[in-house]
Amino acid sequence: MAVQLSFLILTGLTGIHSITTVSEVSVKAGDLISIPCLYDSQYRDNVKYLCKGYYYNYCSYAIRTNQPNSEKFSISDDKTRRIFTVTMRNWTNQGSDYWCAVEVNGRPDVRKYFHLSVTGGSPSLYVDRQEITGFNGENITISCYHHNPGEMKWCRLGSSCVTGSSGSIDGTTVTINASISNVFTVTMSGLRTQSSGWYMCVKGDLQMPVHLTVSERPTTIADNLTASSPSPEAVKHSFGLASFIIPLSLLALALVVIMFTWFNLKRHNQTKKESSATTTAEEEVTYSDVQHVRKTSSKRSGLDIKSNVDIMYSSVITAQVPTVQMVDAENVTYSALVQAE
Ligand SMILES: *[C@@H]1O[C@H](CO)[C@@H](O)[C@H](O)[C@H]1NC(C)=O
Repeated sequence: MAVQLSFLILTGLTGIHSITTVSEVSVKAGDLISIPCLYDSQYRDNVKYLCKGYYYNYCSYAIRTNQPNSEKFSISDDKTRRIFTVTMRNWTNQGSDYWCAVEVNGRPDVRKYFHLSVTGGSPSLYVDRQEITGFNGENITISCYHHNPGEMKWCRLGSSCVTGSSGSIDGTTVTINASISNVFTVTMSGLRTQSSGWYMCVKGDLQMPVHLTVSERPTTIADNLTASSPSPEAVKHSFGLASFIIPLSLLALALVVIMFTWFNLKRHNQTKKESSATTTAEEEVTYSDVQHVRKTSSKRSGLDIKSNVDIMYSSVITAQVPTVQMVDAENVTYSALVQAE
Protein backbone atom coordinates (compact mmCIF):
# COMPACT_ATOMS: atom_id res chain seq x y z
CA MET A 1 0.00 0.00 0.00
CA ALA A 2 2.80 2.36 0.94
CA VAL A 3 4.65 1.38 -2.21
CA GLN A 4 1.54 2.05 -4.32
CA LEU A 5 1.03 5.42 -2.67
CA SER A 6 4.62 6.53 -3.17
CA PHE A 7 4.37 5.34 -6.78
CA LEU A 8 1.26 7.48 -7.25
CA ILE A 9 3.01 10.50 -5.72
CA LEU A 10 6.07 9.88 -7.87
CA THR A 11 4.03 9.57 -11.09
CA GLY A 12 2.05 12.67 -10.07
CA LEU A 13 5.23 14.64 -9.62
CA THR A 14 7.23 13.49 -12.59
CA GLY A 15 4.34 13.16 -15.02
CA ILE A 16 5.22 9.58 -15.96
CA HIS A 17 2.27 7.81 -17.64
CA SER A 18 0.38 11.05 -17.84
CA ILE A 19 0.36 10.94 -21.63
CA THR A 20 0.08 7.82 -23.72
CA THR A 21 0.79 7.93 -27.42
CA VAL A 22 2.73 6.22 -30.21
CA SER A 23 6.52 6.06 -30.06
CA GLU A 24 7.42 5.62 -33.73
CA VAL A 25 5.22 6.24 -36.76
CA SER A 26 6.09 5.88 -40.42
CA VAL A 27 4.39 8.10 -43.00
CA LYS A 28 4.78 8.80 -46.71
CA ALA A 29 5.94 12.36 -47.49
CA GLY A 30 2.97 14.62 -48.15
CA ASP A 31 0.37 12.28 -46.58
CA LEU A 32 -1.79 13.37 -43.68
CA ILE A 33 -1.23 11.61 -40.38
CA SER A 34 -3.22 11.81 -37.17
CA ILE A 35 -1.61 11.07 -33.82
CA PRO A 36 -3.76 10.57 -30.72
CA CYS A 37 -2.43 11.55 -27.30
CA LEU A 38 -4.25 10.17 -24.26
CA TYR A 39 -4.02 12.24 -21.08
CA ASP A 40 -5.12 11.99 -17.44
CA SER A 41 -8.57 13.25 -16.48
CA GLN A 42 -7.01 15.92 -14.23
CA TYR A 43 -5.80 17.73 -17.38
CA ARG A 44 -9.26 17.94 -18.95
CA ASP A 45 -9.33 21.73 -19.14
CA ASN A 46 -5.62 22.37 -19.64
CA VAL A 47 -4.10 23.63 -22.86
CA LYS A 48 -2.75 20.79 -25.04
CA TYR A 49 -0.05 21.24 -27.65
CA LEU A 50 2.35 19.60 -30.04
CA CYS A 51 5.97 20.63 -29.75
CA LYS A 52 8.63 20.01 -32.39
CA GLY A 53 12.23 19.20 -31.54
CA TYR A 54 14.37 16.40 -30.17
CA TYR A 55 15.09 18.13 -26.87
CA TYR A 56 11.95 19.17 -25.05
CA ASN A 57 13.60 22.26 -23.55
CA TYR A 58 14.39 23.55 -27.03
CA CYS A 59 11.25 22.43 -28.82
CA SER A 60 8.97 24.90 -30.57
CA TYR A 61 5.17 24.90 -30.59
CA ALA A 62 3.72 23.34 -33.72
CA ILE A 63 0.07 23.75 -32.67
CA ARG A 64 -1.84 24.54 -29.47
CA THR A 65 -5.49 23.99 -28.54
CA ASN A 66 -5.89 27.69 -27.65
CA GLN A 67 -4.59 28.82 -31.03
CA PRO A 68 -6.13 28.51 -34.50
CA ASN A 69 -5.15 25.58 -36.70
CA SER A 70 -2.45 26.23 -39.27
CA GLU A 71 -2.01 24.99 -42.80
CA LYS A 72 0.27 22.17 -41.69
CA PHE A 73 -1.13 21.26 -38.27
CA SER A 74 -4.53 20.89 -36.67
CA ILE A 75 -5.48 19.84 -33.15
CA SER A 76 -8.71 18.67 -31.53
CA ASP A 77 -9.42 17.75 -27.93
CA ASP A 78 -11.99 15.10 -26.98
CA LYS A 79 -12.39 15.90 -23.28
CA THR A 80 -14.81 13.01 -22.70
CA ARG A 81 -12.38 10.39 -23.97
CA ARG A 82 -9.36 12.37 -22.66
CA ILE A 83 -7.65 12.28 -26.05
CA PHE A 84 -6.28 15.14 -28.07
CA THR A 85 -5.45 14.44 -31.66
CA VAL A 86 -2.91 16.25 -33.81
CA THR A 87 -3.11 15.98 -37.57
CA MET A 88 -0.13 16.98 -39.68
CA ARG A 89 1.33 16.80 -43.12
CA ASN A 90 5.10 16.46 -43.60
CA TRP A 91 6.54 17.24 -47.01
CA THR A 92 10.22 16.69 -46.27
CA ASN A 93 11.76 13.25 -46.49
CA GLN A 94 13.39 13.68 -43.11
CA GLY A 95 12.12 12.32 -39.86
CA SER A 96 10.79 14.62 -37.19
CA ASP A 97 10.77 14.64 -33.41
CA TYR A 98 7.64 15.67 -31.59
CA TRP A 99 6.23 15.99 -28.11
CA CYS A 100 2.55 15.59 -27.17
CA ALA A 101 2.23 17.90 -24.17
CA VAL A 102 -0.19 19.37 -21.65
CA GLU A 103 0.43 22.79 -20.13
CA VAL A 104 0.44 22.68 -16.34
CA ASN A 105 0.57 25.81 -14.24
CA GLY A 106 3.32 25.97 -11.61
CA ARG A 107 4.84 22.62 -12.61
CA PRO A 108 6.72 21.33 -15.64
CA ASP A 109 4.35 20.49 -18.48
CA VAL A 110 3.49 16.82 -18.90
CA ARG A 111 4.70 15.46 -22.21
CA LYS A 112 5.49 12.36 -24.25
CA TYR A 113 7.98 12.03 -27.08
CA PHE A 114 7.33 10.34 -30.41
CA HIS A 115 9.24 10.05 -33.65
CA LEU A 116 7.78 10.45 -37.11
CA SER A 117 9.78 8.85 -39.90
CA VAL A 118 8.91 10.24 -43.32
CA THR A 119 9.48 8.03 -46.35
CA GLY A 120 9.56 8.66 -50.07
CA GLY A 121 7.94 5.36 -50.97
CA SER A 122 5.47 3.25 -49.04
CA PRO A 123 5.85 3.51 -45.25
CA SER A 124 7.10 0.55 -43.21
CA LEU A 125 3.70 0.20 -41.54
CA TYR A 126 0.49 1.72 -42.87
CA VAL A 127 -3.27 1.30 -43.21
CA ASP A 128 -5.69 2.24 -46.02
CA ARG A 129 -7.55 4.72 -43.84
CA GLN A 130 -6.93 5.96 -40.33
CA GLU A 131 -10.63 6.68 -39.81
CA ILE A 132 -12.96 3.67 -39.91
CA THR A 133 -16.64 3.17 -39.09
CA GLY A 134 -18.31 0.02 -37.81
CA PHE A 135 -21.89 -0.83 -36.84
CA ASN A 136 -23.24 -2.10 -33.55
CA GLY A 137 -23.20 -5.90 -33.28
CA GLU A 138 -21.26 -6.28 -36.51
CA ASN A 139 -17.63 -6.96 -37.39
CA ILE A 140 -14.90 -4.82 -38.88
CA THR A 141 -11.66 -5.84 -40.59
CA ILE A 142 -8.58 -3.66 -40.78
CA SER A 143 -5.55 -4.45 -42.94
CA CYS A 144 -2.14 -3.43 -41.61
CA TYR A 145 0.51 -3.38 -44.36
CA HIS A 146 4.15 -3.70 -43.33
CA HIS A 147 7.68 -4.42 -44.38
CA ASN A 148 9.20 -4.14 -40.99
CA PRO A 149 10.50 -6.97 -38.81
CA GLY A 150 9.12 -7.73 -35.38
CA GLU A 151 6.07 -8.93 -33.57
CA MET A 152 2.60 -7.95 -34.81
CA LYS A 153 0.00 -6.65 -32.37
CA TRP A 154 -3.34 -4.92 -32.29
CA CYS A 155 -3.66 -2.54 -29.34
CA ARG A 156 -6.17 -0.11 -27.96
CA LEU A 157 -4.63 3.20 -26.91
CA GLY A 158 -4.37 3.22 -23.12
CA SER A 159 -5.70 -0.34 -22.86
CA SER A 160 -4.51 -3.83 -23.76
CA CYS A 161 -3.01 -5.50 -26.85
CA VAL A 162 -3.74 -8.72 -28.70
CA THR A 163 -0.75 -10.71 -29.89
CA GLY A 164 -0.90 -14.00 -31.75
CA SER A 165 -4.00 -15.04 -33.64
CA SER A 166 -6.80 -14.15 -31.24
CA GLY A 167 -7.74 -12.43 -28.02
CA SER A 168 -10.03 -9.77 -26.68
CA ILE A 169 -9.85 -6.05 -25.94
CA ASP A 170 -12.42 -4.53 -23.56
CA GLY A 171 -14.92 -7.30 -24.33
CA THR A 172 -14.52 -7.23 -28.11
CA THR A 173 -13.15 -10.37 -29.78
CA VAL A 174 -10.08 -9.77 -31.93
CA THR A 175 -8.65 -12.20 -34.47
CA ILE A 176 -5.45 -11.60 -36.40
CA ASN A 177 -4.81 -13.31 -39.73
CA ALA A 178 -1.24 -13.11 -41.00
CA SER A 179 -1.46 -15.79 -43.70
CA ILE A 180 -0.49 -13.31 -46.42
CA SER A 181 3.03 -11.90 -46.24
CA ASN A 182 3.47 -8.14 -45.63
CA VAL A 183 -0.10 -7.73 -44.40
CA PHE A 184 -2.00 -8.78 -41.33
CA THR A 185 -5.73 -8.39 -41.06
CA VAL A 186 -7.41 -7.64 -37.77
CA THR A 187 -11.07 -8.56 -37.31
CA MET A 188 -12.99 -7.11 -34.39
CA SER A 189 -16.28 -8.96 -33.88
CA GLY A 190 -19.40 -8.02 -31.94
CA LEU A 191 -18.76 -4.29 -31.99
CA ARG A 192 -20.41 -2.15 -29.33
CA THR A 193 -20.63 1.61 -28.89
CA GLN A 194 -17.93 1.35 -26.20
CA SER A 195 -15.58 -0.16 -28.81
CA SER A 196 -15.23 3.32 -30.38
CA GLY A 197 -11.82 4.85 -29.92
CA TRP A 198 -8.19 4.79 -30.96
CA TYR A 199 -6.42 1.52 -31.80
CA MET A 200 -3.00 0.79 -33.26
CA CYS A 201 -1.43 -1.68 -35.62
CA VAL A 202 1.95 -2.56 -34.14
CA LYS A 203 4.82 -4.22 -35.98
CA GLY A 204 8.13 -4.32 -34.15
CA ASP A 205 8.91 -0.78 -32.99
CA LEU A 206 6.41 0.86 -35.35
CA GLN A 207 2.80 1.81 -34.65
CA MET A 208 0.00 3.06 -36.86
CA PRO A 209 -3.02 4.61 -35.10
CA VAL A 210 -6.53 3.81 -36.38
CA HIS A 211 -9.68 5.52 -35.14
CA LEU A 212 -12.82 3.40 -34.92
CA THR A 213 -16.33 4.84 -34.66
CA VAL A 214 -19.11 2.39 -33.84
CA SER A 215 -22.62 3.57 -34.66
CA GLU A 216 -26.10 2.14 -35.21
CA ARG A 217 -26.61 0.85 -38.74
CA PRO A 218 -28.86 3.45 -40.39
CA THR A 219 -32.39 2.23 -41.10
CA THR A 220 -33.79 2.40 -44.61
CA ILE A 221 -36.48 4.84 -45.78
CA ALA A 222 -38.94 1.96 -46.19
CA ASP A 223 -38.59 1.17 -42.47
CA ASN A 224 -39.24 4.81 -41.63
CA LEU A 225 -42.38 4.98 -43.74
CA THR A 226 -43.90 1.98 -41.99
CA ALA A 227 -42.99 3.38 -38.57
CA SER A 228 -45.91 4.94 -36.68
CA SER A 229 -44.11 8.07 -35.53
CA PRO A 230 -42.36 10.15 -38.16
CA SER A 231 -38.61 9.95 -37.90
CA PRO A 232 -36.38 12.77 -39.18
CA GLU A 233 -35.85 10.78 -42.38
CA ALA A 234 -39.61 10.37 -42.87
CA VAL A 235 -40.14 14.10 -42.35
CA LYS A 236 -37.41 14.82 -44.86
CA HIS A 237 -39.08 12.38 -47.23
CA SER A 238 -42.46 14.14 -46.98
CA PHE A 239 -40.68 17.43 -47.61
CA GLY A 240 -39.31 15.85 -50.75
CA LEU A 241 -42.86 14.83 -51.68
CA ALA A 242 -44.13 18.40 -51.16
CA SER A 243 -41.43 19.83 -53.36
CA PHE A 244 -42.49 17.24 -55.92
CA ILE A 245 -46.20 18.17 -55.73
CA ILE A 246 -45.68 21.89 -56.39
CA PRO A 247 -44.09 21.49 -59.84
CA LEU A 248 -46.61 18.73 -60.56
CA SER A 249 -49.56 21.05 -59.93
CA LEU A 250 -47.89 23.73 -62.03
CA LEU A 251 -47.56 21.17 -64.79
CA ALA A 252 -51.27 20.31 -64.45
CA LEU A 253 -52.15 24.00 -64.66
CA ALA A 254 -50.02 24.38 -67.77
CA LEU A 255 -51.77 21.33 -69.23
CA VAL A 256 -55.17 22.90 -68.56
CA VAL A 257 -54.10 26.13 -70.27
CA ILE A 258 -52.77 24.16 -73.25
CA MET A 259 -56.00 22.13 -73.48
CA PHE A 260 -58.07 25.30 -73.26
CA THR A 261 -56.09 26.94 -76.03
CA TRP A 262 -56.19 23.80 -78.12
CA PHE A 263 -59.91 23.47 -77.63
CA ASN A 264 -60.48 27.06 -78.68
CA LEU A 265 -58.39 26.54 -81.78
CA LYS A 266 -60.30 23.35 -82.56
CA ARG A 267 -63.56 25.14 -81.99
CA HIS A 268 -62.29 27.95 -84.14
CA ASN A 269 -61.51 25.52 -86.95
CA GLN A 270 -64.87 23.79 -86.49
CA THR A 271 -66.70 27.08 -86.77
CA LYS A 272 -64.68 27.82 -89.84
CA LYS A 273 -65.68 24.46 -91.30
CA GLU A 274 -69.26 24.97 -90.23
CA SER A 275 -69.29 28.46 -91.64
CA SER A 276 -67.75 27.22 -94.86
CA ALA A 277 -70.34 24.45 -94.92
CA THR A 278 -73.27 26.70 -94.24
CA THR A 279 -72.12 29.57 -96.34
CA THR A 280 -71.07 29.46 -99.84
CA ALA A 281 -67.44 29.56 -100.81
CA GLU A 282 -67.84 32.97 -102.24
CA GLU A 283 -68.81 34.43 -98.91
CA GLU A 284 -66.63 36.13 -96.42
CA VAL A 285 -67.89 35.60 -92.85
CA THR A 286 -67.63 38.32 -90.32
CA TYR A 287 -68.44 37.75 -86.64
CA SER A 288 -69.12 41.13 -85.24
CA ASP A 289 -69.43 39.92 -81.66
CA VAL A 290 -68.29 36.59 -80.20
CA GLN A 291 -68.82 35.77 -76.54
CA HIS A 292 -67.36 32.87 -74.57
CA VAL A 293 -69.71 32.05 -71.74
CA ARG A 294 -68.48 29.79 -68.96
CA LYS A 295 -71.20 27.97 -67.12
CA THR A 296 -70.79 28.41 -63.41
CA SER A 297 -71.13 24.94 -62.02
CA SER A 298 -69.44 23.99 -58.75
CA LYS A 299 -68.96 20.31 -59.49
CA ARG A 300 -66.98 21.00 -62.60
CA SER A 301 -63.28 21.12 -62.45
CA GLY A 302 -60.87 22.83 -64.80
CA LEU A 303 -60.36 19.59 -66.65
CA ASP A 304 -63.91 19.44 -68.11
CA ILE A 305 -63.30 22.65 -69.95
CA LYS A 306 -64.78 21.15 -73.12
CA SER A 307 -68.21 20.95 -71.63
CA ASN A 308 -67.68 24.07 -69.62
CA VAL A 309 -67.39 26.64 -72.33
CA ASP A 310 -70.02 27.63 -74.75
CA ILE A 311 -69.37 29.99 -77.54
CA MET A 312 -72.19 32.28 -78.34
CA TYR A 313 -72.28 34.11 -81.58
CA SER A 314 -74.43 37.04 -80.78
CA SER A 315 -74.54 38.28 -84.30
CA VAL A 316 -73.19 36.80 -87.44
CA ILE A 317 -73.00 38.96 -90.47
CA THR A 318 -72.38 37.33 -93.75
CA ALA A 319 -71.19 39.57 -96.44
CA GLN A 320 -71.26 38.88 -100.07
CA VAL A 321 -67.85 39.09 -101.65
CA PRO A 322 -67.82 39.97 -105.27
CA THR A 323 -64.82 37.90 -106.23
CA VAL A 324 -65.13 34.19 -106.98
CA GLN A 325 -61.51 33.41 -106.04
CA MET A 326 -62.21 33.41 -102.29
CA VAL A 327 -62.62 29.64 -102.08
CA ASP A 328 -60.87 28.87 -98.82
CA ALA A 329 -62.81 30.02 -95.81
CA GLU A 330 -59.71 31.46 -94.24
CA ASN A 331 -60.91 35.02 -94.10
CA VAL A 332 -62.65 34.83 -90.78
CA THR A 333 -62.61 38.04 -88.87
CA TYR A 334 -63.54 38.31 -85.21
CA SER A 335 -64.24 41.88 -84.60
CA ALA A 336 -64.70 41.45 -80.88
CA LEU A 337 -63.96 38.54 -78.55
CA VAL A 338 -65.65 38.82 -75.21
CA GLN A 339 -64.98 36.17 -72.61
CA ALA A 340 -67.51 36.16 -69.86
CA GLU A 341 -67.21 34.17 -66.67
C1 LIG B 1 -6.73 -15.81 -43.47
O1 LIG B 1 -6.87 -15.12 -44.72
C2 LIG B 1 -6.71 -15.96 -45.85
C3 LIG B 1 -6.75 -15.06 -47.09
O2 LIG B 1 -7.74 -14.11 -47.02
C4 LIG B 1 -7.82 -17.00 -45.84
O3 LIG B 1 -7.69 -17.84 -46.96
C5 LIG B 1 -7.75 -17.80 -44.55
O4 LIG B 1 -8.83 -18.71 -44.50
C6 LIG B 1 -7.77 -16.88 -43.34
N1 LIG B 1 -7.55 -17.67 -42.14
C7 LIG B 1 -8.36 -17.66 -41.07
C8 LIG B 1 -7.95 -18.48 -39.93
O5 LIG B 1 -9.39 -17.01 -41.07
